[in-house]
Amino acid sequence: MNYPIARHRRLRGSRSIRNLVRETHVSVHDLIYPIFVTEGSGIKEEISSMPGVYRYSLDQLDSEIAEVAELGIQAVLLFGIPEHKDEHGSEAYGDHSIVQEAIRRIKRAQPDLLVIADTCLCEFTSHGHCGVVHRDEATNRADVLNDASLTLLVRTAVSQAQAGADIIAPSNMMDGFVHAIRGGLDEAGFEHVPIMSYAVKYASAFYGPFREAAQSAPQFGDRKSYQMDPANAREALREAESDVAEGADIVMVKPGLAYMDIIKSVRDNFDLPVAAYNVSGEYSMVKAAANNGWIDERAVVMEMMTGFKRAGADMILTYHAKDVARWLKDS
Ligand code: PBG
Repeated sequence: MNYPIARHRRLRGSRSIRNLVRETHVSVHDLIYPIFVTEGSGIKEEISSMPGVYRYSLDQLDSEIAEVAELGIQAVLLFGIPEHKDEHGSEAYGDHSIVQEAIRRIKRAQPDLLVIADTCLCEFTSHGHCGVVHRDEATNRADVLNDASLTLLVRTAVSQAQAGADIIAPSNMMDGFVHAIRGGLDEAGFEHVPIMSYAVKYASAFYGPFREAAQSAPQFGDRKSYQMDPANAREALREAESDVAEGADIVMVKPGLAYMDIIKSVRDNFDLPVAAYNVSGEYSMVKAAANNGWIDERAVVMEMMTGFKRAGADMILTYHAKDVARWLKDS
């Protein structure tokens, strides 16, 4: 058979025909914008490794939230930086702690904006780990205790729901966290609040800039005893499977760019909505290259967003969300 001339190029000849046959679309409804809130007042501090991303004190938050809503972004993910950190991360679950107050403030100002609360202890613990640390005197070995951490994480999730969080997003990677948090939410009367589980979360160097932003770098050791080994793909399915069995409503894969195969396989194996987290280091790399004039930021970011959707993500958590929303408006 003769190979038909222009077989593939026939459908690429004009912008209109390309629009007609496009398989994947990015919409402003896919976007979730992470926001950092900090104690104090009058603070709008740029995070040096994440140009364009700021830490806001509550009094500075309103205009940012208004802008997000104005752009048509429907959901934000909240991270809190407390003034005071301790061994047990008690500022994570105080009824009037920074995240709880931010949730109330945002829901008052923009009732339709979905507020997703990240549920973890690492921003609140003095040692920077995502749970309770036990140090064995004899061996000087430090362990992050699973069940003791779960108790505090459940308290955190319930207090976030009480403050008005629309979705609970536990990122701590303790075993059984979805089961424990689902039980705690149900018992407190929050059966209707969904859990977006950080089901597949790798121990990644791409979180570096976030840890500057949230001042949450571990003070000793690393997170490899609870976050996943980047080399493992089958294990991702086991992680997702247990979270789904425990009652997760949305499953997340994190980071994004180096884990597109994982997004695809989670998509292919589960029928729940899948979220991809385009993490801090991925954002910083784009910003650094763009600020040097080495890449076309808009084109690169839109290609990344399209990649997440094509791999099977239903939603994308991204620090680029405001820019993407603007670009979608004028495209
Ligand atoms: C908290 C948490 C982290 C991120 C989201 N939730 C950091 C970590 O696990 O060290 C990373 C987000 C990002 O890099 O953008 N556990």
